[in-house]
Amino acid sequence: MFRLGNITINSGCLLAPLAGISDLPFRMLNRSFGCEYAFIEMVSARALVFTNRNTLKMLDSNKEDRPLGLQLLGNDPEVMARAVDIVNSMPVDSIDLNAACPVSKVTGRGEGSAMLRDPLNIEAVLRVMVERSVVPVTVKIRTGWDSGSLNAVEVAKRAEQAGASAVFVHGRTRQQGYSGMVDYAAIEKIKKNVTIPVAGSGDVLSADLAKKMFDETGCDAVMIARGALGNPWIFRETDAYLTTGAVPAKPEKSDICLTMKRHLDMMCGYHGEEQAVKMFRKFFGWYSKGLPGSHALKSSAFKACKRDGMLMLIDELMGQK
Ligand SMILES: Cc1cc2nc3c(=O)[nH]c(=O)nc-3n(C[C@H](O)[C@H](O)[C@H](O)COP(=O)(O)O)c2cc1C
Repeated sequence: MFRLGNITINSGCLLAPLAGISDLPFRMLNRSFGCEYAFIEMVSARALVFTNRNTLKMLDSNKEDRPLGLQLLGNDPEVMARAVDIVNSMPVDSIDLNAACPVSKVTGRGEGSAMLRDPLNIEAVLRVMVERSVVPVTVKIRTGWDSGSLNAVEVAKRAEQAGASAVFVHGRTRQQGYSGMVDYAAIEKIKKNVTIPVAGSGDVLSADLAKKMFDETGCDAVMIARGALGNPWIFRETDAYLTTGAVPAKPEKSDICLTMKRHLDMMCGYHGEEQAVKMFRKFFGWYSKGLPGSHALKSSAFKACKRDGMLMLIDELMGQK
């Protein structure tokens, strides 16, 4: 069980922010499989303050898309304060500070994981955000910038002092990017050094890896990220495994194909056919991974431009022996 403000997440599983992925259809699809709390992908505080149209589109939500976290990227307390003022009028349940993004374009501006190199500024930014926000403020960090500067405990303590309501920790350094071993011991150390809830992130790719994260770190919640790509079933599988010790049967190919069609239609309804089909190409690869004939069909899916064409490929996948 995980509490964020007055919201309880019984399963202890959150859908992590995923840039370019966690749009409204993706969040709603995962919610229909048991995801209790989802995040909008990171949004630049500066772009929000200057009302960039694409940024506002990223913030689209609906009444059923709750509880919902919004993640801000930025390192300037003044800009962050203005961004929080804007977010205060939006229907979100928490605001997260991104101090985890490893992308050079972001770190080059001193934002994302580059903030780990200046814990005092993380504290200052969080203090301002907490002061202004009408909902709980959280922070997502990594274990450090690189293996020579593992300072996540200090950063987490500063976050707690600043009034943050939870810390989300991706158990890798910025240097590791998205590969290499997850440092469970580092997350455990953070958990032992702060009293606010801690959520673990990193390789939560299946129900048993979610349990491993809980067992090895003592964390209060896990964040599911790449584990949900083409696999919304991970939410109900993890919940069942954590509560009963048994993992439900894997989805049949027919379930997978039906879900693919549902997801495609949700995306078409939201983004319009042309953009949705383009965006769905990578999902075709994720959903079909390991299924007979998926390799050849994936190449065709990457060329599909129309909903009908994509649906035909899903039917072909269904028919493969
Ligand atoms: C495509 C992609 C986009 C991501 N976007 C964000 C983001 O916007 N904000 C963030 O804090 N983390 C982001 N992450 C990091 C994930 O939330 C998560 O912490 C990381 O992938 C580790 O978990 P995993 O190994 O289970 O995937 C992203 C990861 C991926 C793969």
